[in-house]
Amino acid sequence: MRKRIVAGNWKMNKSFFEAEELIADIADALEEMELDNREVVVCPPYVYLEMATDIAEESRIRVGAQNVNDHESGAFTGEISAPMLKSMEVDYCIIGHSERRKYYAEDNAFLKRKVDTALAHDLKPIFCCGEVLPEREAEQHFKVVKTQMEESLFHLPADLFLQVVIAYEPVWAIGTGVNATPEQAQEMHGYIRGLIAEKYTPDIAETTSILYGGSCNAKNARELFAQKDVDGGLIGGASLKAEEFIQIVKSL
Ligand code: PGA
Repeated sequence: MRKRIVAGNWKMNKSFFEAEELIADIADALEEMELDNREVVVCPPYVYLEMATDIAEESRIRVGAQNVNDHESGAFTGEISAPMLKSMEVDYCIIGHSERRKYYAEDNAFLKRKVDTALAHDLKPIFCCGEVLPEREAEQHFKVVKTQMEESLFHLPADLFLQVVIAYEPVWAIGTGVNATPEQAQEMHGYIRGLIAEKYTPDIAETTSILYGGSCNAKNARELFAQKDVDGGLIGGASLKAEEFIQIVKSL
């Protein structure tokens, strides 16, 4: 059975105290819930990770970073490495988010190196893929996602690929209030699972969690998560309020 996951990507938001309150409220709410094979991940800014892992230790929250450097250590001023994250009990890291692709020029080859470094240190990548609007309009979306998977992930041996969580995030849906329809999400998730089956095995494809991201909120989550190949969500804006985030977890 593959894991069903709701992960909150807080991006560059919240003061320290607000962040502490948010994660504490999520931890409290989870105490009363049966999670079964569901997993709840929060990805706060780097500077709050220690606080987050402290709270998470006492709860069932998993903590992820929003980024990681592709090197293990060295003269990279301002950067954070995979071994540093691992030493702070961080379990996941988001790699390849469209905002990093766009604002920091991170391309598929560079993201491949980040994936390798993360996995070498036992950090699970939440690997984001997805097309921009002109690519969908030109009906290139399947090709774009296929290339992203091939160039950043498909070099991995099966045992390492099994550590990766995929997040399909159509860029036109991120932060816009326009989510992909459940049908559009299912179509792409089914396609991605097919690519994995072809590259690896049908069993590995069935075991891989594929999350949807892009304007997913408490109102639309249930319908999106009901699709057979949608195994949860990577949530931006709607993860910043504990109550809404918990509603989304309950939709899983
Ligand atoms: P959003 O962001 O939920 O605010 O659209 C999702 C994401 O960027 O991961």
